[in-house]
Amino acid sequence: MDPTSVWIDGRLVPAGAPHLSVTDRGFQLGDAVFETLRARAGRSIELDRHVTRLRHSLELLEINAGPDLEARLAAGIRQLLDAEGLGKPAGDAAVRITISRGATPGRGTLPPPGTRPTVVIQAWPMQPPPAAQLAEGLNVVISSVRRDPENPMSAVKSTSRADSVYARLEATRADADDAIFLTTDGYLSEGTAANLFLLVDGRLITPSLACGILEGTTRAWLLGWGELVGLRPDQGLFTTRHLAEADEAFMCSSVAGVIPVTRFEGRSIGAGRPGPWTRRARADREACFDAPPAPASDAPGAPGVDPGAASA
Ligand SMILES: Cc1ncc(COP(=O)(O)O)c(C=O)c1O
Repeated sequence: MDPTSVWIDGRLVPAGAPHLSVTDRGFQLGDAVFETLRARAGRSIELDRHVTRLRHSLELLEINAGPDLEARLAAGIRQLLDAEGLGKPAGDAAVRITISRGATPGRGTLPPPGTRPTVVIQAWPMQPPPAAQLAEGLNVVISSVRRDPENPMSAVKSTSRADSVYARLEATRADADDAIFLTTDGYLSEGTAANLFLLVDGRLITPSLACGILEGTTRAWLLGWGELVGLRPDQGLFTTRHLAEADEAFMCSSVAGVIPVTRFEGRSIGAGRPGPWTRRARADREACFDAPPAPASDAPGAPGVDPGAASA
């Protein structure tokens, strides 16, 4: 079902209404940042971690979104979910927060002082990944676009996503489901909208933050999960050979969760079907969305529930 309303700068407005000025720098320049998260039964999953990353993105771009950001966003999400009928106990939603630098009358790249950021929240009923994707897994290829680990924008979830769009088009042309970016020096980085994990010789491995990746909230959860289930997670520099020769592979993101990757450039990874650890990671991650909020933890990336509680 299409959303009936969106939340803009503190107000709910009809989804079909005109919303933004054409001079908004988010539209003109991709001068905007965003977050995408899941909300179950009206509860925004890991909102604090998303807001931490959002603040980091805003700071790097020197966009001042004002005080009490987390409280304002939490209230806005709640209001929107209720309006869309997604805040009920059975409600399951994908939520997007977008903050652009705002509208400016003139041209030019350097932001003029004193712009008023545009804050938008959208919500959709959660669409789980297609059953065939979960049953058969994804086929991935390598994008011709490279990630520069020295680029500070790699860590920013900015709306400037033409690289990802281009890579997805490349993947589609190659009859694949997604593309993996390599770093400029040839190491695995991440997918177009997800982090990458491999199971190699009983260990859970994933490209380190030095590989120009987005520091995913699901990635952080999985690193904690991997510890708890005895997979001794390792973050490092890995190559396409690790991917081709892995026992299992998967991608992960807040809304889609854990998605098996079973083919690399058409050739099977491991047994060529979703492996037991991948299925367990997906089941455990999904289970934590239904669990009551976890007590506060100091450990970054600690899972919200006992990841051993659910099994594949
Ligand atoms: C490029 C990229 N990497 C990784 C992720 C996964 O991040 P998260 O788990 O916080 O959703 C995303 C999510 O949209 C992404 O766009």
